[in-house]
Amino acid sequence: MRLTILGGGGFRVPLVYGALLGDRGEGRVTEVVLHDLDDRRLYAISRVLHEQAAGVPDAPKVTATTDLDEALLGADFVFSAIRVGGLQGRADDERVALAEGVLGQETVGAGGIAYGLRTVPVAVDIARRVARHAPDAWVINFTNPAGLVTEAMSRHLGDRVIGICDSPVGLGRRIARVLGVDPREAFVDYAGLNHLGWVRGLRVAGRDELPRLFADPVLLGSFEEGRLFGADWLRSLGAVPNEYLHYYYFNRESVRAYREARQTRGAFLRDQQARFYAEAADAGGSALAAWDRTRAEREATYMAENRETAGAGEREEEDLSGGYEKVALALMRAVARDERTTLILNVRNRGTLAALDADAVVEVPCLVDASGAHPLAADPLPGHATALVTAVKAVEREVLAAAASGSRASAVKAFALHPLVDSVTVARRLLDAYTAVHPSLAYLA
Ligand code: G6P
Ligand code: MN
Repeated sequence: MRLTILGGGGFRVPLVYGALLGDRGEGRVTEVVLHDLDDRRLYAISRVLHEQAAGVPDAPKVTATTDLDEALLGADFVFSAIRVGGLQGRADDERVALAEGVLGQETVGAGGIAYGLRTVPVAVDIARRVARHAPDAWVINFTNPAGLVTEAMSRHLGDRVIGICDSPVGLGRRIARVLGVDPREAFVDYAGLNHLGWVRGLRVAGRDELPRLFADPVLLGSFEEGRLFGADWLRSLGAVPNEYLHYYYFNRESVRAYREARQTRGAFLRDQQARFYAEAADAGGSALAAWDRTRAEREATYMAENRETAGAGEREEEDLSGGYEKVALALMRAVARDERTTLILNVRNRGTLAALDADAVVEVPCLVDASGAHPLAADPLPGHATALVTAVKAVEREVLAAAASGSRASAVKAFALHPLVDSVTVARRLLDAYTAVHPSLAYLA
């Protein structure tokens, strides 16, 4: 099996390779092709992977290239984890929005729209090339904003593109743990869009255990989302929201905290990773040691961030590594070996959520096997959740329209219709500021 990783020089690639090294099963990945636009990043990450493979028998062979078409040829799986504009782009997305007094964040609100406008044209080009050079490959999309980008790619690849995120799994795991349930036995009834979903139930052997959580203030206060949203609000909702909904339900507090912060998350990671890539390029030292140290530092900041913004305690060790590489591996296994499994994924709706059309990409539990990912029937979302999901999907559709046509009016509409942008005037100023700072938005006439 050959896996091609787009964004192959990315900082999280060693997590994926580490997961592959632990896979000894039939039909496992034996070859990894790294693709990146940047030679230096490829070199650094190749060095890390080389050190990771030391002493592992039959470690997947790694090659690297900056030629996209060459990277795609012969791929069974294409894993897309690119960041158009890099971390500098992310920092700019965050900063411009915060300067306008609205949320500046990687994937949510104005920042996420700017990121989407930059990324969709690139993702569409990749999808077209996959269709041409690797028409039978499965594309696993981790590129953010993951739901929107998966939808853009699905217009060219149909259901052969599947979007992944680690946040629903992490949330399900944390709820299972407070309830004293084995996460592997639990069915997590989660539905919505990427970074905009709710856990409505957690069933073990057909019995919903979630009411037990809502009935117990001690349990409610003992996990991350309980502290983040507060027990009262969770009880009012009757569901546990994805942590990203904090930006909606506590928008003023989020914006204020981010405006007061010394540095945005993107700026912090930009500086931190610049140091790592410089270190890892030094052939005299261990690239793996440099990577490990940087990763540990980054994880420590998750804890610090949570404590500041939410008064939350520390995440447990196994949650810290995110776990998206585990989702990717579980998905590849289920498809390659036809091992039926249920995973929360970003796929075309096909009637699952009645308020959305069939082609809208949603994030829901799916049955996965060799024929792909099939959304399971889901209970309807309550009115307030449907309202948010349909509003944000309408925004995504304007981003897709703008990316396809180059229409500035569509781009303004995307910003203006977002629930976290409170004025059309602000939307216009946001687009002006983003086009001034991102050369890749020059296509918006
Ligand atoms: C989670 C989300 C990703 C997001 C990441 C940001 O893993 O699921 O979609 O990109 O957090 O984390 P970072 O460390 O880059 O701020
Ligand atoms: Mn995500």
